[in-house]
Amino acid sequence: MRNLVAAITVALATLSALASASNLINNGYEDLVVAISPSVDESNAEAIIASIKKTIRETSTVLFTATRKRAYFRDVKILLPKTWTNTPYDEAALNENFEDSEIRVDARNVVYGDQPYTDQPGGCGVPGRYIHLTPEYLTDDSAAAWWGPRNKTLVHEWAKLRWGVFDEIGYPHDPTFPLFYWNTQITADGIEDVVIPNYCANENLVEVDIVSRGGCSFKSGFPDENCRFLPSEDQDATSSLMAYYYLNSIVEFCDSASDEKFSHNDLAPNRHNLMCDSRSEPAHQRPTPTTVTVLRQEEAKFCLVLDYSRSMDTSQRIEKLQRTAQRWILHEVAQGSFVGIVKFWWVALLGGVAGYGDGQNDLQHHRNHGPSLRQDLANLIDRNLGASTSIGAGLSLAVNQVLVGQKNPVIVLVTDGAENKKPYISDVRDRVISSGARVVTIAFGEAADPNLESLAEATGGKSFTVVDADDGGMLDDAFLGSLTYQPGEKLTDTKVQCEGGIGVV
Ligand SMILES: *[C@@H]1O[C@H](CO)[C@@H](O)[C@H](O)[C@H]1NC(C)=O
Repeated sequence: MRNLVAAITVALATLSALASASNLINNGYEDLVVAISPSVDESNAEAIIASIKKTIRETSTVLFTATRKRAYFRDVKILLPKTWTNTPYDEAALNENFEDSEIRVDARNVVYGDQPYTDQPGGCGVPGRYIHLTPEYLTDDSAAAWWGPRNKTLVHEWAKLRWGVFDEIGYPHDPTFPLFYWNTQITADGIEDVVIPNYCANENLVEVDIVSRGGCSFKSGFPDENCRFLPSEDQDATSSLMAYYYLNSIVEFCDSASDEKFSHNDLAPNRHNLMCDSRSEPAHQRPTPTTVTVLRQEEAKFCLVLDYSRSMDTSQRIEKLQRTAQRWILHEVAQGSFVGIVKFWWVALLGGVAGYGDGQNDLQHHRNHGPSLRQDLANLIDRNLGASTSIGAGLSLAVNQVLVGQKNPVIVLVTDGAENKKPYISDVRDRVISSGARVVTIAFGEAADPNLESLAEATGGKSFTVVDADDGGMLDDAFLGSLTYQPGEKLTDTKVQCEGGIGVV
């Protein structure tokens, strides 16, 4: 409760470890994702999106003031579920997904109803997981006003999410968060125990006996159960946003700099660590207006780029590849996915039709609509190998033909390396990166080609190594790893083995 200063100190160290959290760069939060759950009804989409935009922009201004010009929202993404097919959006989503988002719009639940809350399973100082808002909270102004202005409510929740603070406010009859507590203080008369109201403010809020409407009664020096704070709109406290944030005058987080009397005295030595005084984020004069981009989740569009060179004969590599790729096509890739197949040796071959990777071939794209098409695709994964290895030919065909114009394209490149025929990976690398496709590389053999890992990394993909001693489990896991680019999938949901330090990033 009173650990705001300590909490923020800890949180600053923790934040960088949270891969999914938005980054605070030069005072601006970037890549904050507000994700809408598929369970939210699309018929209200326009009002929900408009309210998110307005609330986020206002919250940015309130946050900037509250942090004494240290932090605001620079760039925010609203993520629509893929099921919202009638709502306009600006761009296709790439890595963004609901499970990693920091602010979620989702159906109300029985515990909170429409009240905004922050999921904080960790203790004090541990950042929360996400802020939960309901569609009703966002679109019904009078219902939302119950919790105060949305822009201040969200700053209040943001502090819980990012800094792991808890409400600095007590509740009647609540032993965990009482209205008052005892504290030991050093005074002119020596050490003495005093009763402290459980709030953080730089002006006294009014204490009233709710029965007599007069002053509070005390039992053994402790206010009795009828004693409450009645914060009034007239008082001029300006902090803290962690307590009575809904009062008009309250615009700052509690800060010992402003008033010794109401400071966190015992934590004062840490004051320089308080966000508001942090040296790492100097005050900023003017925040840029918050950029809001609406994204929609897109199914991944896959192109398998498979090595059909002679060396795949070694250690049953081609048998394992055939088994795994066929299973992936028949059973694992989501219904409605786009899947293209490119085989390469010194030429690249698409869908069973020979080509040279330069657009001269007759393309067959296959859409996976049902079992019969899945079977057709699976049948293309044969075991007829060719001479030489030109990985560049396979990649080039994938980006220049198969995946052209596709949103959220993903290449699954399976190879045992050892390229010996132009085009090489290095010849097509720039083109692959500029195509926007992410490359998942699966390398057979003990030693992975560093070019493969580097290509995966440069395109935001992943790299896997499958040793020849493996009985197929590693290859399976690597194929499953590529499915994490499906909307709603998260890397941690898929079990993947790592080998020799290569694997999931
Ligand atoms: C916050 O919301 C209130 C209520 O809607 C509004 O009056 C106020 O101007 C907003 N603050 C900012 C900074 O936009």
